[in-house]
Amino acid sequence: MKTNKNKICLSVVENNINHSIETYVHEYPNLMFLLRDKLLLDDFGECGGVGRCATCIIEIKGVKGDSIIKERNEHTTLSKMGYIDTTIRLSCQLYLNNDIDGSQIEILDL
Ligand code: FES
Repeated sequence: MKTNKNKICLSVVENNINHSIETYVHEYPNLMFLLRDKLLLDDFGECGGVGRCATCIIEIKGVKGDSIIKERNEHTTLSKMGYIDTTIRLSCQLYLNNDIDGSQIEILDL
């Protein structure tokens, strides 16, 4: 059986509800746009994805590889909020690539 290497499956917890979300590599510009679209989230991603508002904050576990390191804006924004844990991320700074396939995500309430 042929598998689709571009398929991405995610487990997402939002407001204590579990969701299974499927997408494809680069179907959306980043994870924030995917979550906002699939879960119809209000007030999520207010700055449009430049890493400044932190309304798209998530906890993500099970990421493969080390290709999704924090860029400067994300690092600065999260540090100001006191988050240094590498599992706490801004979803707008995560691209939809194979490294996040199979990961577990929780949308955090600020
Ligand atoms: S959308 Fe504003 S920080 Fe991610």
